[in-house]
Amino acid sequence: MIHAIDDRRSIRKFLDTSVPRDVIEEILQSGMKAPSSKNRQPWKFIVVQGEEKERMLRAFRQGLEREEKREAFLPQSRPYIGGAKYTLEIMAQAPVSVFVVNMLGKDLMTELTTEERVSEICNIQSIGASIQNMLLAATEKGIGSLWICDIYFAYPELCEWLHSDGQLVAAVAFGYPNEQPGKRPRKAWEETVEWRCTGVKDW
Ligand SMILES: Cc1cc2nc3c(=O)[nH]c(=O)nc-3n(C[C@H](O)[C@H](O)[C@H](O)COP(=O)(O)O)c2cc1C
Repeated sequence: MIHAIDDRRSIRKFLDTSVPRDVIEEILQSGMKAPSSKNRQPWKFIVVQGEEKERMLRAFRQGLEREEKREAFLPQSRPYIGGAKYTLEIMAQAPVSVFVVNMLGKDLMTELTTEERVSEICNIQSIGASIQNMLLAATEKGIGSLWICDIYFAYPELCEWLHSDGQLVAAVAFGYPNEQPGKRPRKAWEETVEWRCTGVKDW
C-alpha cells in the first residue's frame, strides 16, 4: 500500500486501450470501502464511457465556451480556463471516467446553516477518502488516474447532462498510462508538520 502511495501520479496521457469492466469494478469496490462520517457513505459513482462519454464531453465543451464568452460561473477563475481546456482533452483521451456525486449534498447555490455546512464538510471528506482509495487501487493495478475538479467550470452543463440527484463533486479519469511523470514537488516537512508533544517520553 505504501508503494502505491509512493508510485501514484496524476496521469494526463492515456493509451487508447479500454480497461476491463472487472478491473473498474474492483477499483469502485475500493472506493466503497473508504471510511465515512457516521458511515453515511454519501458517494455514488457514475461510470462513463462510449456514447455517454461523447455526450459528457459535449456538455463540458459547451460549458467552457460559455465560461469564456458569456456569463461566467466562476468569474475569478478565468485565468485557469486554459487548464480546464487541457483537462477536457485528457478526459477525451481517457477510456473511462467516473463521476462522483455526493448523494447527501445540497445544490452549490443553496445557503447552508452551520450544522448543514459541517455535515457537508464531513461528507466531502468521506468522498475524498473514497476517491483516494480508488486512485491507490488503480495504481496497484497498473491503471493511471486523474482526479478532476476542472469540471466546475462547466458545472451547470455537466449537471444537466448528468441528470442525477445529489451534488456533483468530482470526476476521475482512468486508463492505461502513456507517460511516466516524475514526482511532483511537495511542501517542506517543516512547513507541513507541527509537533506539539512536549512532556511525552522518548520522543
Ligand atoms: C481535488 C483535486 C482536483 C484536481 N483537479 C484537477 C484537474 O481538474 N485537472 C488536472 O489536470 N489535475 C487535477 N488534479 C491533480 C493535481 O494537479 C495533482 O494531484 C497535483 O498537481 C499533484 O500531482 P500528483 O497527483 O502527480 O502527485 C486535482 C487533484 C485534486 C486532489
